[in-house]
Amino acid sequence: MRLSEDFIAELKYKSDISDIASSYMQLKRRGRNLVGLCPFHGEKTPSFNIYAENGSFYCFGCGVGGDVITFIMKIENLDYMEAVKFLAQRAGMTVPEDAVDDSMSKLRTRVYEANREAARFFYSKLLSPEGKDALSYLRGRALSDKTITRFGLGYAPNNRYALTNHLKSKGFSDSELIAANLVFKSRSGNYVVDRFVDRVMFPIIDLRGNVIAFGGRIMSDQKPKYLNTSDTIVFNKSQNLFSLNNAKNSGTKRLILCEGYMDVIAVNQAGFTDAVATLGTALTTEQAMLMKRYCDEVVICYDADEAGQKATQRAIGILRNTGLVVRVLSIPDGKDPDEFIRKNGDKGAAAFKHILENSGNDVEYRLFKLKQGFDLNSADGKFAYLSQAVKVLSTLDNRMEQDIYASKLSEEVAVEKNSIMEQIRKSAKSRYSNDRKADFTKLQSKMSGRDDKMNPEHQKKPRVTIAEQNLIAFLVNNPDKLTTINRLISPDDFVTEFNKKLFAYFFDRIKDSKEPLTTLSADFTSEEVSSIIAIISNYSQVAATDSAMMEYINTIKEESIKPSDTDIASASTDELDSYLKKLKEKRK
Ligand code: GTP
Ligand code: MN
Repeated sequence: MRLSEDFIAELKYKSDISDIASSYMQLKRRGRNLVGLCPFHGEKTPSFNIYAENGSFYCFGCGVGGDVITFIMKIENLDYMEAVKFLAQRAGMTVPEDAVDDSMSKLRTRVYEANREAARFFYSKLLSPEGKDALSYLRGRALSDKTITRFGLGYAPNNRYALTNHLKSKGFSDSELIAANLVFKSRSGNYVVDRFVDRVMFPIIDLRGNVIAFGGRIMSDQKPKYLNTSDTIVFNKSQNLFSLNNAKNSGTKRLILCEGYMDVIAVNQAGFTDAVATLGTALTTEQAMLMKRYCDEVVICYDADEAGQKATQRAIGILRNTGLVVRVLSIPDGKDPDEFIRKNGDKGAAAFKHILENSGNDVEYRLFKLKQGFDLNSADGKFAYLSQAVKVLSTLDNRMEQDIYASKLSEEVAVEKNSIMEQIRKSAKSRYSNDRKADFTKLQSKMSGRDDKMNPEHQKKPRVTIAEQNLIAFLVNNPDKLTTINRLISPDDFVTEFNKKLFAYFFDRIKDSKEPLTTLSADFTSEEVSSIIAIISNYSQVAATDSAMMEYINTIKEESIKPSDTDIASASTDELDSYLKKLKEKRK
């Protein structure tokens, strides 16, 4: 069931994109637009634009764009109907009942319900006689009953049908449970069995309080140690963080980033509720962007082993790129945070607080790690260390920071501070020129249409593709020109399929006196919407005059009557004559 045009129009009218985006990010006015740091990719200079006049946004850095509904879909990680409901609630509107029950939305709701019921089941099993060993396992890891309840930990019984039978008795179907990844089909394919068997269960809860997935730990040395829910229609492991639902209410503007579930829980129990962890994968840019919405500073608190240290170096880069302040906490004795807190017994919380307060910033950490790899007693070692250190410092945007570390470095290796500063400047300069070259290459490849995934004909026919795009933008921005354009060109004259489809779409809407962009996010995929907004917002840079319009139309018509190379090869003399004649008429 589709929502009515009027409903969407009213919803969008009441959901001002500038107001809504402002509640997620900082925006500044630039001319008629608002600009800010894009919330969908890491950047340090703003390329995210809001066009208040048509209610759209576009990021020139990552190419994501759309209307207010697309914005909410992306930032809240919702599907179309959920985003509509989200905005409707905010605007005090009620979504018509029959519109909501599309099958995808329904299945998602059922998956949330199944997960919630599963979490309840696992929790009750943990407290039942069946869960005796699991409960003593958790207590053996020094978790209090309060902590167990707070995180809703549970136990998946040692019986392949325990959860399946329970959820089926509650009315869930096989396909709903498979969609939730709580069960899987037996080898014969005739029945379904539990995914989690004889494991301690950690529910993963999203920011709206939905149980979206589980991690399950085995209590023996068997493998795999942890089993996690695979990606489902409600869960994407690279876009969520464990315990962010707790951490976002911690009242600090900081997050402590750990490696595992148990670390987060132990750190919480020690009094720091702002801990989160990735879900068994390396940190992603999406997760860093998500963190940025809730904090200004991240303390990386990974394991002290080599893998943990490698992951730390990687995470520093990702987090810094999103503009976050980064600190690194080093845990003594090669432990992870959970082991460190436990080893310190009663003093665990105080000991952790101490190392947290003494954690250095990421630059100190990187220099420290770097230094370990060189022998500073030899001249060669010193020189090699210095040149690597200079590279690290040249990446800092802040001159004062550079100055401070140059002073330290100067003492360390007994080299004049001024000459270190000079080297930093040189390195920064060559980095800058490399970055500009990369920007240029990117722009060049964009102009060539090589990266245009929506319009595969763009690369082969760049001239006509651009003329088509400009004409579409012209029409959307000047709907009153419809009759004129109609007299001169029709969708069939369009050469590339994607643009033909777009032109016909906007043409029909304007002909029916509809606002061109109202139902864009309902009618196209989100990749298509981004492309369309890119085309339309580029309009401010092309001429909006009638003569420009004529030029676009002529370019398209010329190309549309031009026979292809194979046509020419097989054409008769008459056919070629007639083509030349048509071309001459056009030029008149
Ligand atoms: P404990 O041994 O229970 O203290 O866990 P840990 O957090 O110390 O374990 P480790 O450092 O080995 O793993 C960190 C995180 O990686 C875990 O919390 C899991 O999310 C994930 N992980 C660990 N082992 C596995 C595994 O076998 N499979 C998968 N998918 N993820 C794992
Ligand atoms: Mn551990």
